[in-house]
Amino acid sequence: MFSYSFGQTSLESQLEAFGITEAYDRNLEKAVSYAKTLSKDDLLPFARQRHDGPDVDPIAKAADRIRKSCDDLIVLGTGGSSLGAQAAIAIARFNKGPVRIHTPDSLCPFEMDLLFKELDTARTHVLAISKSGTTAETLAQLLACRAWIEAGQHSDNLGDHFTFITEPGERPLRTYGEKLGSPILDHPTDVGGRFSVLTNVGMLPVAVSGLSVEKFRKGAEEVCAQFMAQPESATAVVGAALTHSLYQEKGITQVLVMPYAESLRAFTRWHGQLWAESLGKDGIGTTPIRAIGPVDQHSQLQLFLDGPNDKFCTFITVPSFGKGPRIDAAEAKAYGLDYMANRTIGDTVTCQSKATQETLRKKGRTVREIVIDSLSEENLGGLFVSFMLETVVTAHLMGVNAFDQPAVEEGKILTRQYLSDLPE
Ligand code: PA5
Repeated sequence: MFSYSFGQTSLESQLEAFGITEAYDRNLEKAVSYAKTLSKDDLLPFARQRHDGPDVDPIAKAADRIRKSCDDLIVLGTGGSSLGAQAAIAIARFNKGPVRIHTPDSLCPFEMDLLFKELDTARTHVLAISKSGTTAETLAQLLACRAWIEAGQHSDNLGDHFTFITEPGERPLRTYGEKLGSPILDHPTDVGGRFSVLTNVGMLPVAVSGLSVEKFRKGAEEVCAQFMAQPESATAVVGAALTHSLYQEKGITQVLVMPYAESLRAFTRWHGQLWAESLGKDGIGTTPIRAIGPVDQHSQLQLFLDGPNDKFCTFITVPSFGKGPRIDAAEAKAYGLDYMANRTIGDTVTCQSKATQETLRKKGRTVREIVIDSLSEENLGGLFVSFMLETVVTAHLMGVNAFDQPAVEEGKILTRQYLSDLPE
């Protein structure tokens, strides 16, 4: 399914080259004993979502109802209430789903106007997701969507155009859904937004897109089982111990995730939030950087290679030798492009990724490659849980709480204040 490597050299020789063997061993030991407490006490609600869990049926039924009622689904939600779904459904492009899914996660007046102009109110469904049920962006979009659909004046029930996911208890989003008489699914109370991709938050959009919830969760279960059984070799634990050792000993303060597959572009946004919001605390933290190969070889790579040596680089690759269109040999040779003759686009991308990793290593950068054998639901489910585990274990090594975000709350309160203070 997926594996990691550090190029032709072993992890041990990389550690030696960086002079961090001792720090790594210490951090690995700490990470492993932490992982073992997680296994014992099952303290990982975000990884507890089973492929045959009690929420699978409600998700399937909600997805079925949504699919039957619309051609377009607008998923309202921001941060962790949207990025997981975006990352997950990105692979649905390969088997064109029955419903077009829109994810306007950043509040923008111009984008909303555009969306409303493009879509047909009669054939649009709105899925509003907010764990707290109080997020201003999501509520503002919801109110705007309601007014827009109402203005369409169709004879069906307005509430049938909406589905909600929010926590139980009194909160504006829930009250709104109840008043509309729309279906409301409970957001698990013990899973935070950026860790919610495998819950109904990510999996309802997945089911609407025609992808398999069961497969996503089976992939995640497999990775969790490996993490529990052999934490010392789990990608998440090794990655956390390495990242933290490099941070402590070598001032490596940036964490690059660079997949060589367009469908993983949204995954890098999801990871960026997960890492930054979980670990940037108490004056410490490492900064996530997003890039996509090969396109960002032509934008950020110069900096990665020749700028400060302060990055831990993770490449995610999908073997693609022989994949994609093949370049005609005669045509290529006619233009002096012999090296391209008879190669596929996949051959080119594979060689580019290999060459970039090698060049970075030669420049003394730490490079980890995670190889997934295909862009499948199982592999993506596995990647999600592996990176969530890596984040949580890293938080433990750093001594911060991965699950809160106290600093951003202040800005949210101030925004509400400024809006209230505007003249009527
Ligand atoms: O990960 C998080 O906790 C945040 O990014 C939230 O997902 C984001 O702020 C949205 O919150 P809510 O789901 O309450 O609307």
